[in-house]
Amino acid sequence: MDLASVSADLAALGTRAQAAIGAAADLAELEAVEVSVLGRKQGQLTAVLRGIGALAPEDRPLVGALANELREELEAALAARRERLEGIALEVRLAAEQLDPTLPGRPLRRGSLHPIVETAREIARIFGQFGFVVYESPEVETDALNFQALNIPADHPARDLWDTFYVDAPAVDGDRLLLRTHTSPGQIRVMRQTEPPIRALLPGRCYRYEAVDASHGFEFFQVEGLMVDEGTSLAHLRGLLDEFAHAMFGAGRATRFRPGYYPFTEPSVAFDVQCVVCDGAGCPACGRTGWMVILGAGMVHPIVLANGGIDPERYQGFAFGMGVDRIAMLRHGIHDLRYFLDNDLRFLEQF
Ligand code: PHE
Repeated sequence: MDLASVSADLAALGTRAQAAIGAAADLAELEAVEVSVLGRKQGQLTAVLRGIGALAPEDRPLVGALANELREELEAALAARRERLEGIALEVRLAAEQLDPTLPGRPLRRGSLHPIVETAREIARIFGQFGFVVYESPEVETDALNFQALNIPADHPARDLWDTFYVDAPAVDGDRLLLRTHTSPGQIRVMRQTEPPIRALLPGRCYRYEAVDASHGFEFFQVEGLMVDEGTSLAHLRGLLDEFAHAMFGAGRATRFRPGYYPFTEPSVAFDVQCVVCDGAGCPACGRTGWMVILGAGMVHPIVLANGGIDPERYQGFAFGMGVDRIAMLRHGIHDLRYFLDNDLRFLEQF
């Protein structure tokens, strides 16, 4: 073994390796070339270097330098070829996965608003035209707000009007939690957090311990209205509700007030509209009276104003509470309130 033959071996190896690198058709082949030439154990360059020990000591550094130079050349060639092959692979992939924007899209299943939501929004839209603003109020309430602040003390017989679900949780400051039986506690919350003039709308879910039938649910929806200002009167309430009834059920529809009773309003009224099924002639839908009750209302009781932190000497207010389910049934000719919460798509898809 001499210097000349080792140099010749290295040169030949370089030529072969360059040819193999150039011929590698993909990354796997290139990797195989790299292992066969530069691999630490079986690599051809390693094999050549093993022969260095047989050389004269003064020739060894020279061969070492030649071998290193060759290694660097080959590594550079490998890197260049790798980059090229990666570029090709990417191009091939892009071509294969090409997106055809002219293909028809997958159809989107489009939902629709639940009739209760849609009706509550329509109510809010109408009252919004009179400056009423929507507030939110919790469904789990305290006894204090659902009853006491509304002038219904513990053990007052008026509580019998609202069959209540009490929540099986520890009382907070001696105050029992319950599922609100109406949206009226929201009146107190709004009065406490704002100042007159107040024009508030409070939509939401309410709960009562009811036997369920076509017109009663233990879970139902109300929209509460509250106006508090100086000089607010029952005439304002009447005018506003007339406008509402006309916007919701048609301009010609007759309306009426009847005396009612609620502990938190004085005086209290029931507001009826001419039956939308028979136009007042009398039919099963209106119990042959020609009228349908839409909501309860009245002038906010001075005790309730005071409980809301409002001076009843200076301000007056009116409030109303309407059943959204009832209004949605009238608008869409739905005869059974249980459809609303059954989640039957055949029903829901119609809206
Ligand atoms: N909260 C009453 C009910 O649920 C309705 C109502 C609201 C009456 C506001 C008067 C004023 O029956």
